[in-house]
Amino acid sequence: MRVSISQIRDMKRKSEKIAMLTAYDYPTARAVDELGVPLILVGDSLGMVVLGYESTVPVTLEQMLHHTSAVTRGSSKALVVADMPFMTYHASQSDALRNAGRLLQEGGAQAVKLEGGQFVAETVRQLVRAGIPVQGHLGLTPQSINQLGGYRVQGRTPAAARELLHDAFALEEAGVFSIVLELIPAPLARLITAALEVPTIGIGAGPDCDGQVQVITDILGLNPDFTPRHAKRYAELGALTREAIAQYAADVRAGAFPAAGNYSSMDEALLADLAAEVAERQGTENRPGVENE
Ligand code: KIV
Repeated sequence: MRVSISQIRDMKRKSEKIAMLTAYDYPTARAVDELGVPLILVGDSLGMVVLGYESTVPVTLEQMLHHTSAVTRGSSKALVVADMPFMTYHASQSDALRNAGRLLQEGGAQAVKLEGGQFVAETVRQLVRAGIPVQGHLGLTPQSINQLGGYRVQGRTPAAARELLHDAFALEEAGVFSIVLELIPAPLARLITAALEVPTIGIGAGPDCDGQVQVITDILGLNPDFTPRHAKRYAELGALTREAIAQYAADVRAGAFPAAGNYSSMDEALLADLAAEVAERQGTENRPGVENE
């Protein structure tokens, strides 16, 4: 049985901190799931950390479906949340319903996440009415990067802070089961967290959110060029991966790979038969005046 949205809500009531991590493929999902992380996010950060785009804007629903289904095949206990990509829930509520429905039906996700506050509240309400659990996402909303002009802390002005609080209330009233708070001042995240019944899951929003979410490639050190300030590297897999690749290529060049044990042998008599067949064929091919078939 997978973790349910009511179990996630209960974790807040019991003051149990909630860990959430992104995953984009089967083996990573297996590891995250087997280690008991209750929430897996198939984030549209996929576009930047796996597919090499400059932002999350180009990510398509088809790409999200492809990766979400790999993650759901790799997990059996965690609640899998799939991001709704840019422009898959803005044009109309029927678009939003159809696209969210596909993430559950074809991708196998148990919930969707979408960015925005009061502006998307009615859409959230419709999705929840249709039986689709929704996670909200406030603060830095990367799909609006062209509007925001940079990946910086949000909610710094009095008006922006108040707007964020009202957005959080609007999402809660619309029925979200939790809200991601990305890159907002820690005291504001604390205030919002205390004001809501649904759990907040922070990223760059301080220690007082009900849970934390991280992009898995950041915590594994898989991007050698950059680690965001809000992330902690728990491993240096980028460096390890490069070392392993270099060692493999060197072994192949030196003839040190494959070694005995990396391949199998075969029946000697059969090998001799086949070698005789090859020799006979080569003899025929090399004989002058004999046409090759
Ligand atoms: O896409 C993503 O990975 C996210 C997290 C940063 C919360 O939305």
